[in-house]
Amino acid sequence: MTQATSGTAAPAETLHRVGSLADLQSGQSMRASINGTKIAVFMVEGCPTATAGRCPHAQGPLHEGEVDGTILTCPWHGWTFDLHTGACDEDESLTLQRYETVVQGDDIMVRL
Ligand code: FES
Repeated sequence: MTQATSGTAAPAETLHRVGSLADLQSGQSMRASINGTKIAVFMVEGCPTATAGRCPHAQGPLHEGEVDGTILTCPWHGWTFDLHTGACDEDESLTLQRYETVVQGDDIMVRL
């Protein structure tokens, strides 16, 4: 069964496996690289959510950030991002890139 979960990518892009749903359900974040693009994956309200792996402020490693509800806090300077919208509380001009995720069995797929 295929289940679309979140994101805004164009349909022509390709699905890439980034990890196991079981691993993400254990409360861990994931990082991945797809064709050189760094990705971070978090479990948000029961759905895998994929974002850019680097913070749009100063390139902090977002997979090391803390998630509280739908809010991701960057580990470097503590700026916060809404994982549903990508909005940044500290700078309205910044938006965190998000990617569509699809669950196929136990595989988390990211469209990129
Ligand atoms: S690098 Fe993320 S808040 Fe500065």
